[in-house]
Amino acid sequence: MKSVSSLMEMQALADQSRGSHRKIGFVPTMGSLHEGHLSLIRTAREQCDDVITSIFVNPAQFAPDEDYEKYPRDIQKDTVLAVDAGSDYLFIPAAADIYPPGFSTFVTMDGISAVWEGAIRPTHFRGVATVVLKLLQLTKPHMLYLGQKDVQQCVVLRRMVKELNVDVEIFVCPTIRESDGLAMSSRNVYLSLEDRKKAPILFQTLKSARERIDAGIHECASLRREMESLLGSAAGVHIDYIAIIDGETLQPLDVIDRSRQTIIALAARFGTTRLIDNVIIEPALP
Ligand code: PAJ
Repeated sequence: MKSVSSLMEMQALADQSRGSHRKIGFVPTMGSLHEGHLSLIRTAREQCDDVITSIFVNPAQFAPDEDYEKYPRDIQKDTVLAVDAGSDYLFIPAAADIYPPGFSTFVTMDGISAVWEGAIRPTHFRGVATVVLKLLQLTKPHMLYLGQKDVQQCVVLRRMVKELNVDVEIFVCPTIRESDGLAMSSRNVYLSLEDRKKAPILFQTLKSARERIDAGIHECASLRREMESLLGSAAGVHIDYIAIIDGETLQPLDVIDRSRQTIIALAARFGTTRLIDNVIIEPALP
Protein backbone atom coordinates (compact mmCIF):
# COMPACT_ATOMS: atom_id res chain seq x y z
CA MET A 1 0.00 0.00 0.00
CA LYS A 2 1.23 3.45 -0.86
CA SER A 3 0.07 6.62 0.82
CA VAL A 4 0.11 9.69 -1.44
CA SER A 5 -0.57 13.31 -0.60
CA SER A 6 0.95 15.12 -3.60
CA LEU A 7 -1.55 15.81 -6.41
CA MET A 8 1.14 15.49 -9.10
CA GLU A 9 2.39 12.19 -7.70
CA MET A 10 -1.17 10.83 -7.65
CA GLN A 11 -1.65 11.77 -11.30
CA ALA A 12 1.70 10.23 -12.24
CA LEU A 13 0.83 6.96 -10.47
CA ALA A 14 -2.58 6.88 -12.19
CA ASP A 15 -0.88 7.49 -15.56
CA GLN A 16 1.54 4.65 -14.86
CA SER A 17 -1.30 2.32 -13.97
CA ARG A 18 -3.28 3.27 -17.09
CA GLY A 19 -0.11 2.93 -19.18
CA SER A 20 0.15 -0.70 -18.01
CA HIS A 21 -3.50 -1.27 -19.03
CA ARG A 22 -4.54 -1.76 -15.41
CA LYS A 23 -8.16 -1.06 -14.47
CA ILE A 24 -8.35 1.61 -11.76
CA GLY A 25 -11.16 1.62 -9.19
CA PHE A 26 -11.64 4.75 -7.07
CA VAL A 27 -13.43 5.07 -3.72
CA PRO A 28 -13.77 8.67 -2.49
CA THR A 29 -14.32 9.02 1.28
CA MET A 30 -14.04 11.55 4.05
CA GLY A 31 -12.36 8.97 6.30
CA SER A 32 -13.53 7.68 9.67
CA LEU A 33 -13.98 4.44 7.77
CA HIS A 34 -16.62 1.87 8.72
CA GLU A 35 -18.01 -1.28 7.11
CA GLY A 36 -20.01 0.85 4.63
CA HIS A 37 -16.85 2.41 3.19
CA LEU A 38 -14.98 -0.90 3.39
CA SER A 39 -17.67 -2.66 1.34
CA LEU A 40 -16.98 -0.16 -1.46
CA ILE A 41 -13.23 -0.84 -1.26
CA ARG A 42 -13.83 -4.62 -1.27
CA THR A 43 -16.08 -4.35 -4.33
CA ALA A 44 -13.46 -2.24 -6.12
CA ARG A 45 -10.84 -4.85 -5.15
CA GLU A 46 -12.92 -7.58 -6.78
CA GLN A 47 -13.55 -5.63 -9.98
CA CYS A 48 -10.30 -3.71 -10.60
CA ASP A 49 -6.51 -4.15 -10.79
CA ASP A 50 -5.59 -1.04 -8.79
CA VAL A 51 -7.76 0.40 -6.02
CA ILE A 52 -7.36 4.01 -4.91
CA THR A 53 -9.16 5.23 -1.77
CA SER A 54 -9.15 8.93 -1.03
CA ILE A 55 -9.55 10.42 2.43
CA PHE A 56 -10.42 14.08 2.27
CA VAL A 57 -12.79 15.93 4.58
CA ASN A 58 -14.02 18.35 1.97
CA PRO A 59 -14.60 21.84 3.41
CA ALA A 60 -16.61 22.91 0.33
CA GLN A 61 -19.49 20.56 1.14
CA PHE A 62 -19.95 21.74 4.72
CA ALA A 63 -21.98 24.87 5.52
CA PRO A 64 -20.39 27.25 8.05
CA ASP A 65 -22.72 25.96 10.80
CA GLU A 66 -21.98 22.29 10.06
CA ASP A 67 -19.48 19.90 11.63
CA TYR A 68 -16.37 20.38 9.39
CA GLU A 69 -14.04 21.08 12.33
CA LYS A 70 -15.36 18.33 14.55
CA TYR A 71 -15.90 15.75 11.77
CA PRO A 72 -14.23 12.56 13.13
CA ARG A 73 -10.68 12.05 11.78
CA ASP A 74 -8.35 9.09 12.41
CA ILE A 75 -5.89 8.58 9.55
CA GLN A 76 -3.89 5.84 11.28
CA LYS A 77 -6.89 3.65 11.94
CA ASP A 78 -8.29 4.38 8.45
CA THR A 79 -4.99 3.32 6.85
CA VAL A 80 -5.08 -0.10 8.52
CA LEU A 81 -8.74 -0.61 7.59
CA ALA A 82 -8.33 0.49 3.96
CA VAL A 83 -5.28 -1.76 3.46
CA ASP A 84 -7.08 -4.75 5.01
CA ALA A 85 -10.04 -4.17 2.67
CA GLY A 86 -7.69 -4.24 -0.33
CA SER A 87 -6.80 -0.65 -1.20
CA ASP A 88 -3.51 -0.25 -3.09
CA TYR A 89 -3.24 3.52 -2.74
CA LEU A 90 -4.46 5.91 -0.07
CA PHE A 91 -4.76 9.41 -1.47
CA ILE A 92 -4.79 11.97 1.34
CA PRO A 93 -4.46 15.45 -0.20
CA ALA A 94 -4.17 18.65 1.83
CA ALA A 95 -7.08 21.10 1.73
CA ALA A 96 -4.66 23.87 0.73
CA ASP A 97 -3.65 21.87 -2.37
CA ILE A 98 -7.22 20.98 -3.39
CA TYR A 99 -8.42 24.56 -2.80
CA PRO A 100 -5.41 26.87 -3.19
CA PRO A 101 -5.87 30.57 -2.42
CA GLY A 102 -8.05 32.22 -5.08
CA PHE A 103 -9.77 28.93 -6.07
CA SER A 104 -12.83 29.92 -8.11
CA THR A 105 -14.16 27.05 -10.25
CA PHE A 106 -17.19 25.12 -8.99
CA VAL A 107 -19.54 22.54 -10.50
CA THR A 108 -23.12 23.66 -9.95
CA MET A 109 -26.30 22.01 -11.15
CA ASP A 110 -29.86 23.09 -11.63
CA GLY A 111 -32.78 21.16 -10.19
CA ILE A 112 -31.64 17.93 -8.60
CA SER A 113 -29.00 19.47 -6.35
CA ALA A 114 -31.45 22.05 -4.94
CA VAL A 115 -34.12 19.64 -3.62
CA TRP A 116 -34.29 17.39 -0.51
CA GLU A 117 -30.76 17.36 0.97
CA GLY A 118 -29.95 20.33 -1.27
CA ALA A 119 -32.91 22.34 0.05
CA ILE A 120 -31.62 21.97 3.60
CA ARG A 121 -27.92 22.22 2.63
CA PRO A 122 -27.91 24.65 -0.34
CA THR A 123 -24.16 24.52 -1.18
CA HIS A 124 -23.62 20.87 -0.27
CA PHE A 125 -23.85 19.25 -3.71
CA ARG A 126 -21.83 22.03 -5.33
CA GLY A 127 -19.05 21.07 -2.91
CA VAL A 128 -19.51 17.33 -3.52
CA ALA A 129 -19.61 17.61 -7.33
CA THR A 130 -16.59 19.95 -7.41
CA VAL A 131 -14.39 17.78 -5.22
CA VAL A 132 -15.40 14.51 -6.89
CA LEU A 133 -14.66 15.95 -10.35
CA LYS A 134 -11.25 17.12 -9.07
CA LEU A 135 -10.54 13.75 -7.45
CA LEU A 136 -11.48 12.00 -10.72
CA GLN A 137 -8.99 14.19 -12.59
CA LEU A 138 -6.31 13.28 -10.06
CA THR A 139 -6.92 9.52 -9.83
CA LYS A 140 -8.06 8.89 -13.43
CA PRO A 141 -10.20 5.83 -12.59
CA HIS A 142 -12.19 3.57 -14.88
CA MET A 143 -14.69 2.84 -12.08
CA LEU A 144 -16.10 5.12 -9.37
CA TYR A 145 -17.64 3.40 -6.32
CA LEU A 146 -20.43 5.12 -4.39
CA GLY A 147 -22.79 4.00 -1.62
CA GLN A 148 -26.59 3.90 -1.96
CA LYS A 149 -26.76 5.28 1.59
CA ASP A 150 -26.26 8.75 0.03
CA VAL A 151 -28.68 8.20 -2.80
CA GLN A 152 -29.08 11.82 -3.87
CA GLN A 153 -25.29 12.12 -4.07
CA CYS A 154 -25.32 9.11 -6.44
CA VAL A 155 -28.00 10.71 -8.64
CA VAL A 156 -26.21 14.08 -8.68
CA LEU A 157 -22.83 12.53 -9.54
CA ARG A 158 -24.35 10.26 -12.20
CA ARG A 159 -25.87 13.38 -13.80
CA MET A 160 -22.55 15.28 -13.60
CA VAL A 161 -20.59 12.40 -15.15
CA LYS A 162 -23.14 12.12 -17.97
CA GLU A 163 -23.52 15.82 -18.71
CA LEU A 164 -19.80 16.68 -18.44
CA ASN A 165 -18.80 13.55 -20.43
CA VAL A 166 -16.54 12.25 -17.68
CA ASP A 167 -15.09 8.94 -18.84
CA VAL A 168 -15.82 6.83 -15.76
CA GLU A 169 -18.37 4.14 -14.87
CA ILE A 170 -20.29 4.55 -11.62
CA PHE A 171 -21.00 1.49 -9.49
CA VAL A 172 -23.46 1.95 -6.60
CA CYS A 173 -23.00 -0.44 -3.64
CA PRO A 174 -25.86 -1.36 -1.26
CA THR A 175 -26.22 0.31 2.15
CA ILE A 176 -24.45 -1.55 4.95
CA ARG A 177 -26.40 -1.57 8.23
CA GLU A 178 -25.89 -2.31 11.90
CA SER A 179 -27.62 -5.49 13.11
CA ASP A 180 -30.69 -3.47 14.18
CA GLY A 181 -31.03 -1.89 10.71
CA LEU A 182 -29.47 1.53 11.34
CA ALA A 183 -27.47 2.55 8.24
CA MET A 184 -23.78 2.84 9.13
CA SER A 185 -22.62 6.44 9.15
CA SER A 186 -19.64 8.33 10.55
CA ARG A 187 -22.19 10.58 12.25
CA ASN A 188 -23.79 7.76 14.29
CA VAL A 189 -21.10 8.36 16.94
CA TYR A 190 -22.78 11.70 17.74
CA LEU A 191 -26.02 9.98 18.85
CA SER A 192 -26.80 9.86 22.57
CA LEU A 193 -27.39 6.37 23.97
CA GLU A 194 -31.10 7.06 24.09
CA ASP A 195 -31.27 8.35 20.49
CA ARG A 196 -29.14 5.44 19.27
CA LYS A 197 -31.87 3.12 20.59
CA LYS A 198 -34.54 5.05 18.67
CA ALA A 199 -32.62 5.45 15.40
CA PRO A 200 -33.55 2.03 13.85
CA ILE A 201 -37.06 3.51 13.40
CA LEU A 202 -35.71 5.14 10.21
CA PHE A 203 -35.15 1.84 8.41
CA GLN A 204 -38.27 0.29 9.98
CA THR A 205 -40.31 3.13 8.46
CA LEU A 206 -38.71 2.58 5.04
CA LYS A 207 -39.21 -1.18 5.20
CA SER A 208 -42.87 -0.82 6.15
CA ALA A 209 -43.40 1.54 3.17
CA ARG A 210 -41.75 -1.02 0.88
CA GLU A 211 -44.03 -3.74 2.25
CA ARG A 212 -47.11 -1.55 1.65
CA ILE A 213 -45.99 -0.94 -1.94
CA ASP A 214 -45.44 -4.67 -2.48
CA ALA A 215 -48.97 -5.17 -1.11
CA GLY A 216 -50.28 -2.91 -3.89
CA ILE A 217 -50.59 0.50 -2.16
CA HIS A 218 -49.24 2.92 -4.76
CA GLU A 219 -50.89 6.18 -3.70
CA CYS A 220 -48.07 8.34 -2.31
CA ALA A 221 -50.10 10.66 -0.06
CA SER A 222 -51.37 7.75 2.03
CA LEU A 223 -47.96 6.04 2.04
CA ARG A 224 -46.40 9.28 3.30
CA ARG A 225 -49.05 9.68 6.01
CA GLU A 226 -48.36 6.16 7.26
CA MET A 227 -44.61 6.81 7.27
CA GLU A 228 -45.04 10.11 9.08
CA SER A 229 -47.11 8.55 11.83
CA LEU A 230 -44.68 5.63 12.29
CA LEU A 231 -41.55 7.81 12.32
CA GLY A 232 -43.28 10.52 14.36
CA SER A 233 -44.25 7.93 17.00
CA ALA A 234 -40.66 7.97 18.34
CA ALA A 235 -40.46 10.75 20.95
CA GLY A 236 -38.06 13.60 20.19
CA VAL A 237 -37.53 12.74 16.49
CA HIS A 238 -37.80 15.70 14.14
CA ILE A 239 -38.64 14.74 10.54
CA ASP A 240 -36.88 16.91 7.93
CA TYR A 241 -38.49 15.19 4.95
CA ILE A 242 -40.05 11.99 3.69
CA ALA A 243 -39.65 11.81 -0.08
CA ILE A 244 -41.32 9.36 -2.46
CA ILE A 245 -39.64 10.35 -5.70
CA ASP A 246 -38.67 9.33 -9.20
CA GLY A 247 -35.24 7.63 -9.24
CA GLU A 248 -33.84 9.90 -11.96
CA THR A 249 -35.53 13.30 -11.65
CA LEU A 250 -36.03 13.20 -7.86
CA GLN A 251 -39.45 14.77 -8.40
CA PRO A 252 -42.20 13.79 -5.92
CA LEU A 253 -44.72 11.24 -7.18
CA ASP A 254 -48.48 11.17 -6.73
CA VAL A 255 -48.71 7.51 -7.65
CA ILE A 256 -45.87 4.99 -7.83
CA ASP A 257 -45.12 3.95 -11.40
CA ARG A 258 -43.88 0.34 -11.15
CA SER A 259 -42.30 0.59 -14.60
CA ARG A 260 -39.73 3.11 -13.26
CA GLN A 261 -37.29 3.22 -10.37
CA THR A 262 -38.70 4.90 -7.25
CA ILE A 263 -36.66 6.19 -4.31
CA ILE A 264 -38.11 6.47 -0.82
CA ALA A 265 -35.77 8.70 1.15
CA LEU A 266 -35.98 10.36 4.52
CA ALA A 267 -34.01 12.63 6.80
CA ALA A 268 -34.63 13.10 10.51
CA ARG A 269 -32.94 14.76 13.42
CA PHE A 270 -32.29 13.13 16.77
CA GLY A 271 -31.24 16.03 18.97
CA THR A 272 -28.53 17.77 16.95
CA THR A 273 -27.65 14.67 14.90
CA ARG A 274 -29.15 14.48 11.44
CA LEU A 275 -29.49 11.06 9.80
CA ILE A 276 -30.57 10.04 6.31
CA ASP A 277 -31.64 6.72 4.84
CA ASN A 278 -33.47 5.36 1.79
CA VAL A 279 -34.73 2.31 -0.03
CA ILE A 280 -34.95 1.90 -3.79
CA ILE A 281 -38.00 0.27 -5.36
CA GLU A 282 -36.76 -1.21 -8.61
CA PRO A 283 -39.12 -1.40 -11.60
CA ALA A 284 -41.34 -4.49 -11.42
CA LEU A 285 -40.65 -7.08 -14.09
CA PRO A 286 -43.28 -6.95 -16.84
P1 PAJ B 1 -18.39 9.69 3.10
O1 PAJ B 1 -19.57 10.12 3.89
O2 PAJ B 1 -17.12 9.40 3.81
O3 PAJ B 1 -18.82 8.42 2.27
C1 PAJ B 1 -17.95 7.84 1.33
C2 PAJ B 1 -18.71 6.80 0.52
O4 PAJ B 1 -19.15 5.76 1.39
C3 PAJ B 1 -19.98 7.40 -0.14
O5 PAJ B 1 -20.12 6.90 -1.46
C4 PAJ B 1 -21.08 6.91 0.78
O6 PAJ B 1 -22.34 6.78 0.14
C5 PAJ B 1 -20.54 5.53 1.17
N1 PAJ B 1 -21.17 5.06 2.41
C6 PAJ B 1 -21.31 5.72 3.58
N2 PAJ B 1 -22.01 4.99 4.46
C7 PAJ B 1 -22.34 3.84 3.82
C8 PAJ B 1 -23.09 2.67 4.19
N3 PAJ B 1 -23.62 2.54 5.40
N4 PAJ B 1 -23.23 1.69 3.28
C9 PAJ B 1 -22.68 1.81 2.03
N5 PAJ B 1 -21.98 2.89 1.62
C10 PAJ B 1 -21.80 3.88 2.51
O7 PAJ B 1 -19.95 10.70 0.76
C11 PAJ B 1 -18.90 11.27 1.05
O8 PAJ B 1 -18.04 10.81 2.00
C12 PAJ B 1 -18.45 12.55 0.36
O9 PAJ B 1 -19.56 13.30 -0.03
C13 PAJ B 1 -17.52 12.30 -0.85
C14 PAJ B 1 -18.21 11.50 -1.96
C15 PAJ B 1 -16.23 11.56 -0.40
C16 PAJ B 1 -17.09 13.67 -1.46
O10 PAJ B 1 -16.45 14.45 -0.53
